[in-house]
Amino acid sequence: MLIKDILEIKADNRELSASGWARTKRDMKNLVFVEVNDGSCFAGIQCAFDKAMLDAKTETALSRLTAGASVRVRGRLVTSPASGQSVEIAGEELVIIGSAGADDYPLQKKHHSLEFLREIAHLRARTNTFGAVARVRSRLAFAVNRFFEENGFFLVHTPIITANDAEGAGAMFQVTTLDLAALAKSAAPPVWSRDFFAKRCYLTVSGQLEAETYAAALSRVYTFGPTFRAENSNTVRHLAEFWMIEPEMAFAELPDLMALAEDFLKYLFRDALEKSGDDLAFFDQRVQKGVIENLQNVADSKFAHITYTDAINELQKSKVDFEFKPVWGCDLQTEHERYLTENIASGPVIVTDYPKEIKAFYMKLNGDDKTVRAMDVLVPRLGEIIGGSQREENLQTLERRMAELGMNAKDYSWYLDLRRYGTVPHSGFGLGFERLVQYVTGMANIRDVIPYPRAAGQADF
Ligand code: 4AD
Ligand code: MG
Repeated sequence: MLIKDILEIKADNRELSASGWARTKRDMKNLVFVEVNDGSCFAGIQCAFDKAMLDAKTETALSRLTAGASVRVRGRLVTSPASGQSVEIAGEELVIIGSAGADDYPLQKKHHSLEFLREIAHLRARTNTFGAVARVRSRLAFAVNRFFEENGFFLVHTPIITANDAEGAGAMFQVTTLDLAALAKSAAPPVWSRDFFAKRCYLTVSGQLEAETYAAALSRVYTFGPTFRAENSNTVRHLAEFWMIEPEMAFAELPDLMALAEDFLKYLFRDALEKSGDDLAFFDQRVQKGVIENLQNVADSKFAHITYTDAINELQKSKVDFEFKPVWGCDLQTEHERYLTENIASGPVIVTDYPKEIKAFYMKLNGDDKTVRAMDVLVPRLGEIIGGSQREENLQTLERRMAELGMNAKDYSWYLDLRRYGTVPHSGFGLGFERLVQYVTGMANIRDVIPYPRAAGQADF
């Protein structure tokens, strides 16, 4: 039986067995206490063995037991005299399934730094913190799918290998089967037509362009998959491999998209509050004080809206001495995002209508010919959690924009076809899944909310 199910039962002296990993053993005068955790929920179960009643096998097993060993315990479910738990197992039998070694098990009871745990990422899910992150992450993924299912969106699996740079940022990992060592020795340039896909290919930075094609058929779709960016940014908010959720809606303009983003985030926060109470209580106490209250407040709030131009004005009016001076045309820096969420909006804020120069080619151009119908959702502590836009649905405008940016229209003929045949206003956004998990748990570093982080210089496990 899973420990989470055992903990739901009233102590009725029934006989049961539990399996898991021993967290601690305390050897007292008459009793041996073993705390067993199976990861099914935050709490483990306390098992108390009466020394006077032990059979010889269990006595030996208990004497050899060390933290980290996997065990099976059999006993009766009784009311716990200890505080903080309602039931415990009055143990009758303990079997060691796999021992752990008293001295070399890396997760001894003492406190470990997150940096150290990153080096043993294959074992860190056995700690309170990383077990809780993994459970919250899984529940959030389910909530994402449920939200879209309830709102008429279909899940579309978009390709991971692609020939196009959707975001135009150029930070892509190339995929090739050409012999790089041979190429390095040769004076001739690589012949991409001889490569595996007969052209230059990359790991995708976004499933958006392909998602748009399905939105132009099914009206509402979303993708939820891994994306890759070869930016060498060593920050607590960037990964080289991260998961992104990208809804795309046909017959929808920017205000519809802003409403969707707000509803979506609130749904996810409410779901976490409801389903991950025990794990969130831990984060609230030990990781980020006030994280529960913050999620509740945001779930009950109305998101603020501000245009990029107004945001720059507010930043310029402020007396803050920013490291990067806010000027119209510059990208918002983390310090600017913080000021907007913490000082201007006191909560989440949706910034819209950015200069076209700092946004991707596909965004719908405003009448001023200077700004595009983009939106970023910024949240306190983290900054940008969602980025999206209304898409340019006018063929001529989009072709003109691509030409301005030096893009080859032939490479995007399929994308332009959507504007040729039955074009419609449509809009979509991307939510970085790890940023969401960071925000919900309060974990400071994005590398601690994905099991095996990939970042520049880091691809272990
Ligand atoms: O703003 P971005 O680059 O937008 C897109 O990729 C669009 N195609 C989305 C769309 O309109 N369908 O990325 C979207 C989100 C960001 O707001 C951020 O949450 C996350 O993806 N993100 C990253 N998360 C972790 N590591 C990185 N290197 C990230 N880059 C973006
Ligand atoms: Mg962005």
